[in-house]
Amino acid sequence: MASPSRFFTQKVDPSLLATNQAVAFRDYGRPADVLRLVNRPIQNFGDDKILVRILAAPINPADINQIEGVYPAKPPFEPEIGAVAGNEGVAEIVAIGRNIQGQGNHQVGNLVLPLYRSFGTWQSYAAVGPNDIYSFAPRKKVPILGVASMAINPSTAYRMLNDFVSLMPGDYVIQSGATSAVGQAVIQLCKIWGYKTINIIRDRPDLDTTINHLKSLGADVILTAEQMGTADTRQYLKALGSPIKLGLDCTAGKVASEIARALGPGAPLVIYGGMSRKPLLFPVSLFIFKDIQVRGFWMNRWYQHCPHLERQTMWEDLMHYMEKGELQPPKFNTIPWVTSTPTSSSASSSSTSSLSGTDGEGLLKAIRTAINGPDGGAPGTPKKNILIMDSDYIN
Ligand SMILES: NC(=O)c1ccc[n+]([C@@H]2O[C@H](COP(=O)([O-])OP(=O)(O)OC[C@H]3O[C@@H](n4cnc5c(N)ncnc54)[C@H](OP(=O)(O)O)[C@@H]3O)[C@@H](O)[C@H]2O)c1
Repeated sequence: MASPSRFFTQKVDPSLLATNQAVAFRDYGRPADVLRLVNRPIQNFGDDKILVRILAAPINPADINQIEGVYPAKPPFEPEIGAVAGNEGVAEIVAIGRNIQGQGNHQVGNLVLPLYRSFGTWQSYAAVGPNDIYSFAPRKKVPILGVASMAINPSTAYRMLNDFVSLMPGDYVIQSGATSAVGQAVIQLCKIWGYKTINIIRDRPDLDTTINHLKSLGADVILTAEQMGTADTRQYLKALGSPIKLGLDCTAGKVASEIARALGPGAPLVIYGGMSRKPLLFPVSLFIFKDIQVRGFWMNRWYQHCPHLERQTMWEDLMHYMEKGELQPPKFNTIPWVTSTPTSSSASSSSTSSLSGTDGEGLLKAIRTAINGPDGGAPGTPKKNILIMDSDYIN
């Protein structure tokens, strides 16, 4: 490897290349069992690479499924450390290799989003190719946590509202999992575009607080999962005055069936998650007499085939809405990326052992707690966790 010093700006201490740390797993399994904090020296930063410093990286359900080995997108495994966890996040360009200076939109100081899944965002630094990242100048009013979490959840909401049916202002959209990050983005995008939302949430002790929050985002109607299927609710949905044009479901089970029942003739029901871990069951009559269209959506699949311009338009739109304060990220539980300083011997090579010291242990513990949920995933527990690698930048 060429001497790295000539690539760096004064912001970067070259020793960071040797002391890069990552949360990784060698085997699939329960995150609590398999996640470990490892040294992962950056060895492949050369003339053709860009060095990025990760600023923040969310913990999404897909990350957890990937660690468990039940997610279709498999991460690359490195011989010694295994796979670095984390699919999403925002990073800052800190150095650009000599051969690619001036290429594309890449500038030192720009923010970047990964352009492929299984990026391994739960680490401090990464060396990437110029085509691996989407690069843009930081914008003061766009919340950095919003950018960090933009590529999966708000993008999923954006696509599902645009790609299955042509909606007009005033049209109704019905969705389950309205408290989720995707659900909250659906509510806000519908408000921006003039659509009305019917939002299904699980009952919870602080129901009023949740209802008030979703209303403050722009939700029109909120129903509990328990209310779905009652004669009163079915009557209420029938009497809305116009057919519901689109259904979005991330829970499956009974709620998905009730959404299908509520849809107007021929309307698509887009399935994008299965949080209840229950199967989908639809009465035959809905297919025969209403011709409901049950479809699936996977953001990964869209990214694999999307025209670059469409992706750019979507992300620019989302940042524009954030800049105007019309699209807020979900409330995050932040987990500071506090790790031990590795000793010089452990810094010199990859290590699969957890780093010594309580800080590294504390980080792993915080991630495990976030993933398990403080009370076993009951409704209303904090939903979104995000790793903060650089709290100074974020604040
Ligand atoms: N297909 C795709 O491309 C794609 C993209 C993004 C996300 N997703 C999926 O969309 C879903 C939401 O993701 P997210 O990141 O937005 O989630 P999130 O913010 O972590 O929220 C999780 C949501 O699931 C609900 N939930 C949890 N356990 C449940 C259960 N047993 N029964 C019913 N609902 C339950 C929660 O409701 P409470 O408030 O009641 O706890 C909350 O609304 C996940 O399944 C995720 O994998 C899919």
